[in-house]
Amino acid sequence: MCSLIVAVLALPLALATVASELFSPLVARKVLATAKMPPIPIQYPQYTDTTTGNWLWFNSDAWATGFFPATLYEMHRRQKLCGHKHGVGGVDWLKLGRTWSTGEIPSERTIGASHDVGFPFIEELKINPRNETARTAVKIFATALAKRFNAMVGCTRNEDSPDPNFQVSIDYMMDLEVLFVAEKITGNHTLRDIAIKHADTTMANHIRPDGSTWHVIEYDSNTGSVTKKRTAQGFSDDRHRISDTWSRGQAWGIYGYANMHLRTNFPRYLKTARRLATYFVFNIPSDGIVPWDFNVPAIPARPADSSAATIAVNALLLLSQRESTIGNSTGARFWQKSALSILRDITNLAWRPEWESLLSNGTMHLPANNKLTGIVYGDHYFIRAGNELKELGLTSC
Ligand SMILES: *[C@@H]1O[C@H](CO)[C@@H](O)[C@H](O)[C@H]1NC(C)=O
Ligand SMILES: *[C@@H]1O[C@H](CO)[C@@H](O)[C@H](O)[C@H]1NC(C)=O
Ligand SMILES: *[C@@H]1O[C@H](CO)[C@@H](O)[C@H](O)[C@H]1NC(C)=O
Ligand SMILES: *[C@@H]1O[C@H](CO)[C@@H](O)[C@H](O)[C@H]1NC(C)=O
Repeated sequence: MCSLIVAVLALPLALATVASELFSPLVARKVLATAKMPPIPIQYPQYTDTTTGNWLWFNSDAWATGFFPATLYEMHRRQKLCGHKHGVGGVDWLKLGRTWSTGEIPSERTIGASHDVGFPFIEELKINPRNETARTAVKIFATALAKRFNAMVGCTRNEDSPDPNFQVSIDYMMDLEVLFVAEKITGNHTLRDIAIKHADTTMANHIRPDGSTWHVIEYDSNTGSVTKKRTAQGFSDDRHRISDTWSRGQAWGIYGYANMHLRTNFPRYLKTARRLATYFVFNIPSDGIVPWDFNVPAIPARPADSSAATIAVNALLLLSQRESTIGNSTGARFWQKSALSILRDITNLAWRPEWESLLSNGTMHLPANNKLTGIVYGDHYFIRAGNELKELGLTSC
């Protein structure tokens, strides 16, 4: 794999063209239309119906609640980057983001069993670091996450539970961010230590020698030893002993380790992000479509996961910036180019003007037959990718 990367890096790198849909007026129009239809009491869009493409709505304690409010903050950022072009103007996106976040505040108190750790509150603090509501929310989320840390295992667990079967998903690499933000607010360095320990344990147990990842590792909470490595939302076929590599988990992992490098500058995290990214990029088939699981046989046709693709785009752009900070411009260009080509291919496949979501072809949970939908975080990372590319000077609005 290493020599493959070296060979590819030596090729001249023409930048893929950025898909024009990224800044289509439909982006603002659809997000605004969704923002105007909150049911009372408030519910949040998560994924769409497969045929109409209309959003399905869930209570605020459901996983992924935070992504729609965070999308509104992302539209506010776009307004600052792009001005009033493409229907982005004339809307107080920040106010909408704040209004939509308030419905999430009650879940601060019940977060123990939930997964979502307050992405919109982190966005609010980037704009107004003094907002006490957001500061409190982040502190409570971080404390709840820290409570799920077990020093014997060296990880935070998925669910708040006394069960000795201690389960950890690769997705949780994404939640470590809240610990760093809370460390800044409180000055409590234990939160950072927990994030580092979780990342190191995950590095040791979730990642296979080829850079692919297990979705779930089970530990014995009393001894800390690994009792099982398994999939949850990925493909696996025990008869053929085929392991799974759930593509969204792989994408969360790349982002998580690139972010750990951003937060700590520890070279081991950069190396790990590269290994996971290398697996992702070199396992996309020639049609450019990111499958929901890299290890599912290609025949019969396997569904895509557009959300894995857009998360990976953001992860690779972050990794590219990390390479730049160590002066590795060849590596930086390589990840940038990979991000752009994934983005172009997924836009060609999944852009759906007639749906309420921006993209189709999301696979929320295939074993539960939840596929071929729009997904709220797929759209969120699509919009964010456009903003990142603009901020990096790789596109205009
Ligand atoms: C502070 O943040 C919260 C949560 O993000 C938001 O609901 C509220 O409107 C914000 N307050 C102000 C004064 O901006
Ligand atoms: C720091 O955070 C940890 C984890 O939440 C907590 O156990 C500890 O009491 C905190 N320390 C202080 C001084 O607040
Ligand atoms: C993409 O979504 C469309 C519309 O739902 C569907 O017809 C098509 O088969 C999907 N393609 C893949 C590769 O999942
Ligand atoms: C630059 O980045 C590429 C891709 O991540 C990596 O293979 C290479 O080892 C890096 N070079 C240096 C000098 O760090």
